[in-house]
Amino acid sequence: MDKVAGHGYVAQNSGALGARRPRPPPSRNMTRQPAKKTKATRPKAAGAKQSGLACVILAAGQGTRMRSARAKVLHEVLGRPLIAYPVELAQSLAASPVVLVLGHQKDAVEAALAGRFGAASLSVVEQKERRGTGHAVQTALPALRGARGIMLVLSGDVPLVQRKSLSALVGAARRYSCLAMLTTVPPDPTGYGRVVRDERGHVLRIVEHKDATAEERALTEINAGVYAAPIEFFREAVKGLGARNAQNEYYLTDVVAHAARTVGVSTIEADFRDVSGVNDRAQLAEAEAMLRARINTACLAHATLHDPPSITIEPDVVVGVDAEIGRGVVLRGRTRVGHGAKIAEGCILVDTEVGAGAEVRPYTVATEAVIGVHTKVGPFAHLRPGAVLAEEAHVGNFVELKKTRLGRGSKANHLTYLGDAVIGDGVNIGAGTITCNYNGYEKSETVIEDGAFIGSDSQLVAPVTVGAKAVVAAGTTVTKNVPAGALAIARAAQTAVAGYAEHVARRYGKGSAPAASSANPSPRRASATRRRPKVSG
Ligand code: UD1
Ligand code: CA
Repeated sequence: MDKVAGHGYVAQNSGALGARRPRPPPSRNMTRQPAKKTKATRPKAAGAKQSGLACVILAAGQGTRMRSARAKVLHEVLGRPLIAYPVELAQSLAASPVVLVLGHQKDAVEAALAGRFGAASLSVVEQKERRGTGHAVQTALPALRGARGIMLVLSGDVPLVQRKSLSALVGAARRYSCLAMLTTVPPDPTGYGRVVRDERGHVLRIVEHKDATAEERALTEINAGVYAAPIEFFREAVKGLGARNAQNEYYLTDVVAHAARTVGVSTIEADFRDVSGVNDRAQLAEAEAMLRARINTACLAHATLHDPPSITIEPDVVVGVDAEIGRGVVLRGRTRVGHGAKIAEGCILVDTEVGAGAEVRPYTVATEAVIGVHTKVGPFAHLRPGAVLAEEAHVGNFVELKKTRLGRGSKANHLTYLGDAVIGDGVNIGAGTITCNYNGYEKSETVIEDGAFIGSDSQLVAPVTVGAKAVVAAGTTVTKNVPAGALAIARAAQTAVAGYAEHVARRYGKGSAPAASSANPSPRRASATRRRPKVSG
């Protein structure tokens, strides 16, 4: 299969939405830096060896504004929980350790992460009481004992940050031994922390929306909640946090004022679409729409999408060159679409592989299936887990396959159920064929060898084998193995009862003529029609 990564990780989707170049911290701030601190931080940044990168992800909050029984970071954007996005970003930057601060529904969040990333790859600290983002970082720091270099702080609810923005952020923190932060200018800054700068444009501090004066609320540049700085800086800065503010919380944002007085603050401006936070369900929907558009745009570089806004392609899906995707198609999980394959309107493919040149016709639903090269499937086919179609096989309308291999060039074109079956090459499965694979207790296998012909409306009671080139007569219930090349026929002999129709009609007193069809008006209606001209004339 000719595979082209339309998009892989979110971070690889770039387009024009990247970050601007970092603004170095103003020299004014640098000169204010205490000599002692300079010594403490400089050697690591200037060292010949690249110092390490650690990452802390804040995800202990409940997400009150979601109004949900489920923790906010477990809500999904394009098939993945929110929390998976920052974790993948941290891993893509080779950050180690990656420390997650969890609290609300900690066990459920941990289970979701373990299922996806393996339990060993992440370290989790519990923030028992949610006393703010600053307190969350205080809680995380002991897990970073011994770690050196730069610490990246990500938010569990800011999923769409681009990898290159984070690289730039970490680079700036490393180069200048300063606090680097992502900022943006959103269409509506309500709710976000505002970036307060002095008259020369140097960052002074962040003021949270709830604490801001009317004048400060008029500021349009906001804090994205993503930071990088030497670990030592965070250790020092979070010691002095207080909770005298509108929310009585320890704000991580207060470390910005600390940095402005000491190591300096460097800002990197990101596109708002990449750093918007998810606090409520409207923002969740917006984030999903933005990610969908980003992925679809990346696919359009080499594939045709009909009505892209109607098409959903999840982040791990791979779409091949010259593929054609119809309106309303949903491609989920690890689905791969081969070179030149066509997926028509309304198909839903989950973890499914589609071979080059395959044609998947409208409204086909497939899960964990393999649709071979140059096959034809659908419309309205249902391929369930373990359905494997070899090259040039055909599966038609209202055909369901489960854990079944359909060999090369074999056909099952109409109204059929094939479950737990191994079907060879060049086999024809007639309309209405059913593999009876389940006796109420266990599943059994049906084997149909190369070149066999299964007549319409047959039942194959498994376990059973139909030999190569054998023929099963239409309407047969096959309960015994059919030898290769043999005909299996199991139906009552047909008899013809002469005069039956007339006999029955007479019994019901309906005369001797066969029942009239609507095309043949009854004598009464015919005479009425004839009479009508007289009445009107
Ligand atoms: C935060 C920033 C704000 C910024 C915005 C960007 C603070 C005080 N404010 O506000 O300046 O504009 O993000 O999206 O940092 N969390 C914990 N433990 C806690 C509290 C929060 O782990 O005790 C986690 C949350 O689960 C969440 C993240 O930290 O993932 C941010 O918390 P949230 O309450 O959403 O902060 P915002 O009000 O959005
Ligand atoms: Ca938030």
